[in-house]
Amino acid sequence: MRNRLEVPPDRIAAAARRVMGRCDELARVTAAPGRIERVYLSPEHARVNRLAAEWMREVGMSARQDAAGNELGRLDPPAGSDAPALLLGSHLDTVPDAGRYDGIVGVLMAIEVVRMLRSVDDHGVSTSPLPFALEVIAFADEEGTRFGTALLGSSAAAGTWDDDWWSLTDADGVSLRHAFLEFGLDPGRVGEAARHPEQLIGYLEAHIEQGPELHRRGEALAVVSSIASARRFQVVVEGEARHAGGTPYAMRHDALLGASEAALAVERVCRAEHQIIGTVGQLQAYPGAVNIVPGEARFSVDLRGEFDGYRDHVWDTLGRELDAIMGRRGLRWHAREIHNAPAVLCAPLMRDVVRAGIAATDAPGRRDPATIFSRAGHDAMALGAVTDVGMLFLRNPDGISHHPDEAVSAADVAAGIQALAESVLHLAAEPRP
Ligand code: GLV
Ligand code: MN
Ligand code: MN
Repeated sequence: MRNRLEVPPDRIAAAARRVMGRCDELARVTAAPGRIERVYLSPEHARVNRLAAEWMREVGMSARQDAAGNELGRLDPPAGSDAPALLLGSHLDTVPDAGRYDGIVGVLMAIEVVRMLRSVDDHGVSTSPLPFALEVIAFADEEGTRFGTALLGSSAAAGTWDDDWWSLTDADGVSLRHAFLEFGLDPGRVGEAARHPEQLIGYLEAHIEQGPELHRRGEALAVVSSIASARRFQVVVEGEARHAGGTPYAMRHDALLGASEAALAVERVCRAEHQIIGTVGQLQAYPGAVNIVPGEARFSVDLRGEFDGYRDHVWDTLGRELDAIMGRRGLRWHAREIHNAPAVLCAPLMRDVVRAGIAATDAPGRRDPATIFSRAGHDAMALGAVTDVGMLFLRNPDGISHHPDEAVSAADVAAGIQALAESVLHLAAEPRP
């Protein structure tokens, strides 16, 4: 078995160019002309799965869609198909008006890693030369754009699917159950997507950083230490809709003003707590007419932090703030939690192999790579329930993400492919029970 990647730099550079070209190609698969938007169980989801399957087969993998709509490629060792697998992957779904690299670049890099590591025999048959199978997994819903709950695809793969999710609805009122059926999936079989610990060696994910740390340090790659603890809520504020002209201020119970004060409280409380970052990304007023005092308002709250306890403490503090704000304005409020993910630690061995993988490249900063705690959520969080996870971050110029200007350079992608392949080889060299 090889323990160093024997691939010339021009082949690695060509792989990175292919990844960049394919990110552009996938960006054209969108529900919103002129913008990138690709959500779970949509026609665009089906199209990118077909493309991913084609690209997985091109490097000798078998490809199939699992029971939750994730696309899976697999390359077995010569010994057979019951070997445990190392999963490499990320997601192909997007936020609204997205960039073209968040998730996507990790899936395409994983395919290139398989291309570099595979053995091809005289008959053109590819196998994994490692003591385990290699799988590439393209998760179908990391962002939660359509149904509000994130990590649906990876939760199905981790066996942590929650049957309460079936009644989630999208903006058109289509339930998750109905969307499954429309996509050609059987809700009764979602459990078949679940992976079991004994089938798995671990999960490695490459992803753009989605923050400015590597850009500031002038370095290309980082080891991820852990992934943020997150909670998300939909908050409803109830007031009274009345005539905008005829209602004096003393008689108003304006739900939008209560929600606006609440949004400012989210910023104030999170800034004071330092460790927690909070965002109100959605805010709607109802009935939504220019001449009516808003009778109801709805907004989202997204909280992230390194530790679950701080995050929960901030939500408790916010609850008291909202009671006070709404009390002063004669409003009522309630909240529904739509996402609750504990912080996930990357496994020490996975951190070590990612660090060794980075050290084997020529990337700037490779000798003492940054170790970054990820405030962004990733599929690795869900997979952490079933296997050891590790992550490699790629520099994201200016740290802009969830935006069309999101970027990564071909040179950093080349370094990332090399680092990921070297990480896999280091993992393969580890003694196994
Ligand atoms: C996913 O990108 C998230 O962190 O919200
Ligand atoms: Mn994202
Ligand atoms: Mn992502």
